[in-house]
Amino acid sequence: MVALLYLIAATLFILGLKGMTRVKTARFGNLTASSGMLLAIIATLIHIGKADYTLIVSGVVIGALIGTIAALKVEMTAMPEMVAIFNGFGGGASALVALSEIWFNIIENNSQLPAFKTTGTLWAATIILSILIGTVTFSGSVVAFLKLRGSIKGDPILLPGRHFINVALVLATILLGIYALFEVTVLTTLTTLALTISLTSLILGILLVIPIGGADMPVVISLLNSYSGLAAASTGFVLMNPILIISGALVGASGLILTQIMCKAMNRSLSNVLFGGFGAEVSEGVREYSNVKSFTPEEAALILESASKVIFVPGYGMAVAQAQHAVKELAELLESRGAKVLFAIHPVAGRMPGHMNVLLAEADVPYDKLIELDQANAEMVDTDVAIVVGANDVVNPAATKDSSSPIAGMPVIEVWNAATVMVIKRSLSPGFAGIKNELFEHDNTYMLFMDAKTALQEIIKELKS
Ligand code: TAP
Repeated sequence: MVALLYLIAATLFILGLKGMTRVKTARFGNLTASSGMLLAIIATLIHIGKADYTLIVSGVVIGALIGTIAALKVEMTAMPEMVAIFNGFGGGASALVALSEIWFNIIENNSQLPAFKTTGTLWAATIILSILIGTVTFSGSVVAFLKLRGSIKGDPILLPGRHFINVALVLATILLGIYALFEVTVLTTLTTLALTISLTSLILGILLVIPIGGADMPVVISLLNSYSGLAAASTGFVLMNPILIISGALVGASGLILTQIMCKAMNRSLSNVLFGGFGAEVSEGVREYSNVKSFTPEEAALILESASKVIFVPGYGMAVAQAQHAVKELAELLESRGAKVLFAIHPVAGRMPGHMNVLLAEADVPYDKLIELDQANAEMVDTDVAIVVGANDVVNPAATKDSSSPIAGMPVIEVWNAATVMVIKRSLSPGFAGIKNELFEHDNTYMLFMDAKTALQEIIKELKS
C-alpha cells in the first residue's frame, strides 16, 4: 500500500510540474503537487509505523505556521528572497537528517551499523554527499537571500586568490569524504569527519555565491534550487526512502532546466556566471548623464492620444509600485481609443522567473497580449510609443552595443526602435546590474520621474479629461 501511495504521489508531482509550465494551469499544478506531497507524508508516516508522533506533529505545526505566516505576509517584491531562503532551509534540512542518521546509529544501535546497511560504504557516501550539497545550498542560499534583501552589497565581492581557495576547499572536502568512506565502521570518526565536511562546505557555499553579483542572481537562485533537490535525493538514499529520491530528483532536474533557460535568456554560459565575477562595481562617474529630457503626465497623455500602436515594457519598478492594475487600465483606455496594445516580457525582468507574467495575470491582462523578447523586438520597429514601466537593465542598449559592459551579450528589449520611448521611473538610479543606461539620453526618450503607479494614474486622468 505504501509503495502504491508513493507511486500516486510521484505521478501527482510530475503532473503538478507539467501544470506549472503554463500560466493558465499553474495554480492547478501547484495544488496537484501539494496534494502529492501530503500523500507522500501520509504514506511515509504509515511506513514508519511506531514513532514519536508528538515530535512529528509539533514539527508539522511549527513548520506550517512559519510557512503560512511567511507566505501571507510576503510582499510580491520580496518573493525571490523567500524562495532563496526556503531553498536554503531545504538544503540545511537534508544535511541535518544525514548527520542525525550517523548519531542515530551511534546512540540507538550501540555504534553498530544496522543490518540492512551492509553496504556501509555506499551508505556513508550518500551521507557525505547529502551533507556536502545540503550545506553548500544552505550557506549559498543565505548569502543570496542577504544580497537580494540588500543586507549585503549586490556587487560581486572578489577575494584575492578566490579560485585557488575554492579549489583547495573542494579538494579538501573530497579527500575528507573519501577518508570517511574507509572509516565507515567507526561511527565516532565518521561523525568528526562529517562535521568537518559540514564546515568546509559551509565556507564553500559562502565563497561560491559572494563573487556573483548584479544581474546574475536569477541563475544562482535556480541553481541553488536544483542543488536543494539533489541534496534531498541524496538524503532519500540515506533513508532508503523512494519518494524522497523521486521528489529530490524532480526538483534537481527542473532546477537545472530553469538554470539553463536563465543562462540562455542572459546569453551567458553557466561557468561564466559561476566563475566570471560578473557585474563588477561601476564607479559613480560612469553613471553621470547628459541630455536627459523629462516630461509631465499631461505631455505623456498628449503623445499617447495620437498613438496607434503602444507596447508596455514592465520591469522590477512595476512590482515595487504595484502598478499592474494601472497598466491594465491605461492599456484598456488606449484600446478603447483604437490603439493596438501589447506587453513585452523579458525573461529576467523583475526579480524572479515569470515575475511580470504573475503580476499581469493578477491584473487580468489577457495572455495573448503578452509577447516574448524576439517578437517584441520585431514589433518595436513600427511602434509609436514604448512605455517602459520601471524597467532598466532589460532595456539597456549597452547589452547590444558595448562589448565591455557587464551585461554585454544579454538579449534586451530594443525599445529605442519605437518612435517614442517613455520611461517611467523615480530617478536616474541604476537597475539591479548597477550600470548606466544610455537609453535615457536618446533623442526619442522622455523620462517621467515618478512612482510608476502614480504616473500611470495621472496619465489616465489626463486622457479621460
Ligand atoms: P532593474 O534593472 O532592476 O530596474 C528597476 C528600475 O525600477 C530601477 O532602475 C528603479 O529606478 C525603478 N523603480 C523602482 N521602484 C520604482 C517605482 N516605485 N516606480 C517606478 N520605478 C521604480 O529591473 P529590470 O529591468 O526588470 O531588470 C531586472 C534585473 O534584475 C536584471 O538585471 C536581472 O538580471 C535581475 N534579476 C532578475 C531576476 C529574475 S529571475 N527575474 C532575479 C534577480 C535579479 P528608480 O529607483 O529610479 O525608480
